[in-house]
Amino acid sequence: MNEKERKYDLLLRQVQSLAEGETDAIALMANMAAVIHETFHFWWTGFYRVVGDELVLGPFQGPLACTRIARGRGVCGTVWQEARTIVVPDVHQFKGHIACSSASQSEIVIPVFKEKEVVAVLDIDSEYLHTFDETDRIWLEKIVSFLILDID
Ligand code: SME
Repeated sequence: MNEKERKYDLLLRQVQSLAEGETDAIALMANMAAVIHETFHFWWTGFYRVVGDELVLGPFQGPLACTRIARGRGVCGTVWQEARTIVVPDVHQFKGHIACSSASQSEIVIPVFKEKEVVAVLDIDSEYLHTFDETDRIWLEKIVSFLILDID
């Protein structure tokens, strides 16, 4: 394991124990955003929940962000529509990227599933280019799988 994988391994265990002790989805998302953000010192780490026909801002760490994103819009709305993780090495190259902050340079968005439906997304932004790769995708998908959401 390299340094990044070691951090993810520890993070996964922290999230596992957080999920064992808490069933409230918002509380769990809040602590998950906090531990991920603190481990890697990303620019912005947070959740958007599917509410009706929009994504609505959920628990996050970092500067203020857009509150609502339509399905198919930006990276988050595309992840919701396509139900798959998207890694964006350079946000300026992603057509339709929504710039909540001009500091954000690269991004990864992971769908959160409940019974095969996307019910939320985890969005992580970095102020550096090319921050995220396959290692991040694999570990973050494992991490969000502990989020058993009671979202209607
Ligand atoms: N960049 C995202 C919007 C959310 S903010 O980055 C927190 C997007 O294109 O969907």
